[in-house]
Amino acid sequence: MYRSHTCGELRKENIGSQVTLAGWVQTIRDKGNIIWVDLRDRYGLVQIVGEIGVVSDEVMANLKALGREYVVQVTGEVIERYDKNPKMVTGDIEIKATSVVLLNASLTPPFTIEDQTDGGEELKMKYRYLDLRRKPVQEKLKLRHKVSLETRKYLDTVNFMEVETPYLIKSTPEGARDFVVPSRMNPGQFYALPQSPQTFKQLLMVSGYDRYYQIVKCFRDEDLRADRQPEFTQIDCEMAFVDQEDILNTFEGLIKHLFKTCRNYEFNYEFPRMTYAEAMEKYGSDKPDIRFDMSFVNLTSLAQGKDFAIFDNAELVLAITAKGCGEYTRKQLDALVDFVKRPQIGASGLIYCKCNEDGSYKSTVDKFYDQAALGAWANVCGAEKGDLIFVMSGNTDKVRSQMNELRLHLGTELGLRDPNVFAPLWVLDFPLLEWDENSGRYHAMHHPFTSPKKEDFHLLATEPGKVRANAYDLAMNGVELGGGSIRIHNKELQAKMFELLGFSDEEAKAQFGFLLNAFEYGAPPHGGLAFGFDRLVATMGGSDSIRDYIAFPKNNSGRDVMIDSPAPLALEQMEELFLASTAPAE
Ligand code: AMO
Repeated sequence: MYRSHTCGELRKENIGSQVTLAGWVQTIRDKGNIIWVDLRDRYGLVQIVGEIGVVSDEVMANLKALGREYVVQVTGEVIERYDKNPKMVTGDIEIKATSVVLLNASLTPPFTIEDQTDGGEELKMKYRYLDLRRKPVQEKLKLRHKVSLETRKYLDTVNFMEVETPYLIKSTPEGARDFVVPSRMNPGQFYALPQSPQTFKQLLMVSGYDRYYQIVKCFRDEDLRADRQPEFTQIDCEMAFVDQEDILNTFEGLIKHLFKTCRNYEFNYEFPRMTYAEAMEKYGSDKPDIRFDMSFVNLTSLAQGKDFAIFDNAELVLAITAKGCGEYTRKQLDALVDFVKRPQIGASGLIYCKCNEDGSYKSTVDKFYDQAALGAWANVCGAEKGDLIFVMSGNTDKVRSQMNELRLHLGTELGLRDPNVFAPLWVLDFPLLEWDENSGRYHAMHHPFTSPKKEDFHLLATEPGKVRANAYDLAMNGVELGGGSIRIHNKELQAKMFELLGFSDEEAKAQFGFLLNAFEYGAPPHGGLAFGFDRLVATMGGSDSIRDYIAFPKNNSGRDVMIDSPAPLALEQMEELFLASTAPAE
């Protein structure tokens, strides 16, 4: 037996017992005649002590020979600590060593393995196995483990069955590029890795498994961001014989259960709901952060007709009010103007109006708007003395998206986005289709299996862009946690949908013939949803970055810098796979 206890469990009650521990040396304090070593394992940290004349010479020599991150087995007696450390859970005791066995030495780690470390991001990624030893990182993976466990428990109690689906498949229609795998046995042919198990879970409904789930890896070749990884995990679910309401209720229940069991956070209310149209109008986003209000006010009719050409020529003039910011300095305001002018946001400018304490207004467009006009702005905005109104104008989609960025930025700056407050929101009635300028045709906003709303069927032929779908997302704190839809289960409607999306009969058959065939054999009404598991866990942990919650993540260029992947293949392997590279030589 290597150990009798773990490093995190010994307390006052254990004083007097003989224990054997095994772990890594975190810190060594050598005062010559006395030496303290902090020993660490997954469960915590405990202090080992050796003193000349109190422990044997051999033990003393062994302790003195240790270095950071050495792996050791220590036997000794639990004694009361003279200098108690209230910051450590084991801080009341220490281990008087009677034997110290070196199990393995270690090179000096490239950064300190402590809660606050000196390692930069790239270095920590390269030595991820060392970073994973740090407590804050472990805590994140522990949360991930707990959320997956509780997901399985909850879904099991409501009759869901976990079924695995294959990874070597063919292209799935989630809108990103596929990662592909060449087939040696089928020269010139490729598997695609699933962007999601979408088609398989629908086939499982045809097969009668009316409540399916899977905690599953998905692969998407798309531009990466803090909340996107090329391989990520979904809690993927599908149900048969349900309508939208059943699905929303089931998964609202799951989210509530997860927050309660894994975060001790109770939502004792029904999640609010908002249509996509309203979310875009009020927040310029399909995943609004509703931890704070600051919703948009349409100022178009009030702002136009006063000879201010920028507003007169705009499709939409939008305002938001920052409460209590009337005292913002010129420097703060300039910084906000610079913020919206950044290329990623692309606004041409930002107009503001201060609501002074004396009841007057001061704006950057005083020349065009007198006090009465500015008073009317303040009135519709609900702005009061001491508030600050921001105004932007332009093309509807652009100005909404720019105002959304400003709103989120202000929310962060004003401390309105507390990571320990959680604000879920169901966003409903997404559009079925979106127009793609590049290809000059409609694309499915969600995926081609999403059903149109019955009341909008009549628009399918005439104004397809206006058709709403039975599609929903769960947003939380400005993050899209998950999304899904009620599917088409009728072969004719599915064929029509492919036609709308510009697939010829042959193309639809070649890509999705298996699904259309399956629909000939009694497909039940069905629908489902998938949560981004990494995003869910990161949000629960109060972080925007999913990378910290993945044991071995990739960097922003999609590289694993630890294993140095992707990497070229050896020529023989390329030949075996019938591949030739057209990449320029490095
Ligand atoms: P969707 O494409 O909306 O739906 O994906 C579901 C959820 O997965 C998460 N997600 C990601 N997380 C990390 N990195 C990524 N690259 C990434 N891409 C997506 C998001 C998102 O809400 N088959 C449908 C679901 C359905 O209709 O049932 C689907 O995959 O949190």
